[in-house]
Amino acid sequence: MKKLVFPKPFLKWAGGKTNLLGQYEPLFPEWSGDYFEPFIGSGAVFFYLSARPEERNYYLSDLNQEIVDAFCAVRDDVEGVIKLLAKHQQLHSKDYFYQVRGLVPQNLSALEKAARTIYLNKTCFNGLYRVNKKGEFNVPMGNYKKPSILQIETLKAASRALSSADLSTGHYSVLVDKAQAGDFIYLDPPYHPLSKTAMFTNYVAQAFGEKDQIELAEVANALSKKGCLVMESNSNTDFIKDLYKGFKIQEVWARRSINREKSKRGAITELVVTNF
Ligand SMILES: C[S@@+](CC[C@H](N)C(=O)[O-])C[C@H]1O[C@@H](n2cnc3c(N)ncnc32)[C@H](O)[C@@H]1O
Repeated sequence: MKKLVFPKPFLKWAGGKTNLLGQYEPLFPEWSGDYFEPFIGSGAVFFYLSARPEERNYYLSDLNQEIVDAFCAVRDDVEGVIKLLAKHQQLHSKDYFYQVRGLVPQNLSALEKAARTIYLNKTCFNGLYRVNKKGEFNVPMGNYKKPSILQIETLKAASRALSSADLSTGHYSVLVDKAQAGDFIYLDPPYHPLSKTAMFTNYVAQAFGEKDQIELAEVANALSKKGCLVMESNSNTDFIKDLYKGFKIQEVWARRSINREKSKRGAITELVVTNF
């Protein structure tokens, strides 16, 4: 019998929420409106919630054009993505990695771009995403014996889950502007750093600083006033607790493995902020 694969991320993503879903499950609401996730990353929460039976619209976005393009290609032509990734898997070597990394995305077709993004994500150091000042991906190759470049069933399940999703690239505020009363908005921004040296939240060219966290809290408040259900993940700092004073704040356990300071690796708590 064919194993049923539940939708899950096809990318590795710093701050991905897969390991927290068990603790999030009792915190998710029951709701009948639409779903908005404007910091989609690898989409762990979206894929998890998409398995629920209710019919609704899913609005997903991120500032990172390359991942949104990869999501679109997996949604629109998963067989095409699989075919190109099979080629990358076959040819994978150190030289090949740097050759593919050196390709200019603008010169590639949508499918080639998506396969390149997924290939580099699966083979680069820790699945990190980092670009230089010119916007060129510059993470070195990771040290994997057998990276799982082509995960056919994961890609197909992701494609089915994404089939009716509305995907866009842009600032989170543009997407959530469309939300109405009764919709559920899950916010997973780059976290407020635990210390000044723990600044590894540079997912996109510009970092997400304290001013951005303050603006996000204002947006979360406005959505709450509109009658939306709002849930946000962030780090457990006094700054964040202060920003969300009117919200319910709960702690969950997380594992932080990507931290430059070795002593800060291991289990720590994070916050889940909700208005319900
Ligand atoms: C913590 S990650 C999200 C991880 C995701 N929940 C997952 O499970 O993979 C934060 C995401 O926010 C995106 N981002 C950063 N600044 C943004 C902004 N101003 N508007 C929208 N997205 C932004 C980054 O590209 C990154 O993908």
